[in-house]
Amino acid sequence: MPGRNFNSGGQASKHLKNMLHDPNRVYVFDTTLRDGEQVPGCQLTTPEKIEIARELEALGVDIIEAGFPISSPGDFQSVVEISKAVSHPIVCALTRANKGDIDAAVESLQYAKRPRIHTGIGSSDMHIKTKFNSTREEILERAVEAVKYAKKSVEDIEFYAEDAGRADVHYLAQMVEAVIAAGATVVNIPDTNGYCLPNQYGDKIRFLKENVKNIDKAIISVHCHNDLGLATANSIAGLQNGARQIEGTINGIGERAGNTSIEEVVMILKTHQLGLHTNINARNFYEISQLVRTQMRMPVQPNKAIVGSNAFAHSSGIHQDGFLKNRENYEIIRPEDVGFPSATIVLTARSGRHALKHHLERLGYNLDKNELAEAYKNFLTLADNKLDITDEDLTMLVAGSNISV
Ligand code: KIV
Ligand code: ZN
Repeated sequence: MPGRNFNSGGQASKHLKNMLHDPNRVYVFDTTLRDGEQVPGCQLTTPEKIEIARELEALGVDIIEAGFPISSPGDFQSVVEISKAVSHPIVCALTRANKGDIDAAVESLQYAKRPRIHTGIGSSDMHIKTKFNSTREEILERAVEAVKYAKKSVEDIEFYAEDAGRADVHYLAQMVEAVIAAGATVVNIPDTNGYCLPNQYGDKIRFLKENVKNIDKAIISVHCHNDLGLATANSIAGLQNGARQIEGTINGIGERAGNTSIEEVVMILKTHQLGLHTNINARNFYEISQLVRTQMRMPVQPNKAIVGSNAFAHSSGIHQDGFLKNRENYEIIRPEDVGFPSATIVLTARSGRHALKHHLERLGYNLDKNELAEAYKNFLTLADNKLDITDEDLTMLVAGSNISV
């Protein structure tokens, strides 16, 4: 954009140099405020976005995609204000591959300490023909032009090859090679429609890694949607095949069935020895999940991995007994490691004696074997007729029996 140039910090090359020092570091790119906020009903005010951006900074994300500035004055202003509000993360603004979008993004990033432009265009024949009514050659040219134009103002340029999941891998490789030559520092390979199987997506990333000239001059990024419930699996497959940036959202919110859940990917990397690590403070996950849920008015399904209300609740007798003997029988992540209040032993008609004993002891009742047998019989009658067994119910149960306390 004439008269503006934030291309002086050398941040992108610093990023790449860091990566060369630690090839196993995975960069986390959060798009809760852009791809997540596109969801109907999830729109946020600028102050709400700033609050989430500050929590994302505390979480330790490397990049915050703050918005799509050309889309509305409000989104433009949010990028401006988020740029002022955070210090450490790169602040990124989305554009299509045209000068107007890029100019707006450059303008909106004027206060960012570490600005990034995220520009791109469709890469599948489906998008090229039916979305752009164009040809592969023409689209390649537009991609390169957009990167070159953005590069005049901002050093750190991420290019997205939309619908890469369904794109011909040879054409995709040609496009990725051309945009790196034009100055892209990160190349995003989105599975925009959540179409790929993990092995297909992983193979695509490996093909690019092995066949694109100068691929080591850029970071490969994975951006997977969840239409078939495979977003997290595909992101992990991408990382296992050479990608070093993962894009996603808190609680997995996003277009249609959502994006990759950042909390899931990070905890997979912590749980399995894949040799990869992030800079994320996982203990902040539960808190930020609750914040996003509340601000965006988007409930989190109870069985959602890592942050759902049942993620650490044990309810069947067999599981409860095993858990009470050794929590690792049924717990691969400790709730405190993701900031979750605590594991719970939920009393239901499927609970066993061990769980009842555990709760009665917690309330100060130490019953002998016969007393426990009687209490358990009465408990089952109650639990068959009442969904939520409270401490008060347990106290009444003991008081109303022949048990001496
Ligand atoms: O899903 C997608 O392809 C996107 C791009 C704009 C990165 O969100
Ligand atoms: Zn997306």
